[in-house]
Amino acid sequence: MAGLVQQHDHEEKKSMKACVIGGTGFVASLLVKLLLRKGYLVNTTARDPGDEKKISHLLALKDLGELKVFKANLTDEGSFDAAVEGCDVVFLVATPVNFASQDPEADMIKPAMQGVINVLTACTKAKSVKRVVMTSSAAAVSINSLTGDGLVMSEEDWTDVDFLYSKKPPLWGYPVSKTLAEKEAWKFAKENNLDLITVIPSLITGAAFTPDVPSSIGLATCLLTGNESLINGMKGMQLLSGSISITHVEDVCRAHIFLAENKSASGRYICCAVNTSVVDLAKFLSNKYPQYNVPTDFGELPSKAKLILSSEKLVNEGFEFKHGIGEIYDSTVEYLKSKDILKN
Ligand SMILES: NC(=O)c1ccc[n+]([C@@H]2O[C@H](COP(=O)([O-])OP(=O)(O)OC[C@H]3O[C@@H](n4cnc5c(N)ncnc54)[C@H](OP(=O)(O)O)[C@@H]3O)[C@@H](O)[C@H]2O)c1
Repeated sequence: MAGLVQQHDHEEKKSMKACVIGGTGFVASLLVKLLLRKGYLVNTTARDPGDEKKISHLLALKDLGELKVFKANLTDEGSFDAAVEGCDVVFLVATPVNFASQDPEADMIKPAMQGVINVLTACTKAKSVKRVVMTSSAAAVSINSLTGDGLVMSEEDWTDVDFLYSKKPPLWGYPVSKTLAEKEAWKFAKENNLDLITVIPSLITGAAFTPDVPSSIGLATCLLTGNESLINGMKGMQLLSGSISITHVEDVCRAHIFLAENKSASGRYICCAVNTSVVDLAKFLSNKYPQYNVPTDFGELPSKAKLILSSEKLVNEGFEFKHGIGEIYDSTVEYLKSKDILKN
């Protein structure tokens, strides 16, 4: 990648063109916004660009620069060709999410893998694409049958899919889909000589400008809102993935752009600002926001996390996180207040 502006022999400057796959989502819509602000020309995709409510927040970004919305579905062959054509960089952010599915194989795993093939095939056909940045997940790294504590997870680690298929813990389909989709992407990239980077974020929160409140913000703030089923989900998350690891959405998007522009970047990058446990997070939130009656008794749940997700590789590459735990929750609380979900 030559950076934002390419210099041509005849001194003409050309803006970089990016395609963001799945622009309606929580992370992707902010990524589109940041790219436009940086002067990129942006193509993005949505399954139904005719659904005005679902894409209203994207249409509102058109004042920032040139943004085109294309219709595309991860499961449709050839669907992404038009959106990707002429782009320098492609961000594959979309993923099929259906936590309530009775058939995760059909609803999440297969479409995620098909989506990788369809998007990456479009990238190789386009000839203009110099790098693909794909959004993976900590769910593709940290789930395993290891016991103990003090484990440090790095880009060398992969979630144990056989363990998930044999135990089928709640929501097992999502980590299987993220792991197999990322592996499929690496296989395709190797076979087709494609420059691929994967970003591996932990649970993401912060302020969203999507029409609906993203589910990951609901999960990250359950101790403040008192949502019992999400609190159980958060406990389950610690038990299954080994920690409660959190990152601000702005840092996740900044890391995507940083890795797209940084010539020397290669491989997988964990992007995680804070590693904690339910018990420690509850203590922190209870002190910081006494008005929300944060629960602090979680029974038998281990008080310490089993592992941490290390962002050392990303930081050594030169990336700086802007949001620590305090800023992450301050901005999320302000956002939830603006949505009348939390009171003052
Ligand atoms: N949020 C987190 O805490 C978190 C943590 C780690 C990793 N991640 C990863 O980050 C990425 C973005 O997550 P997010 O929270 O921003 O997701 P999100 O808000 O739920 O958005 C999901 C996006 O995927 C698109 N999509 C779903 N099925 C599709 C299909 N069949 N064809 C085309 N598009 C499809 C949706 O588009 P439509 O508008 O067409 O429905 C939507 O734009 C995902 O890859 C996720 O796995 C998220």
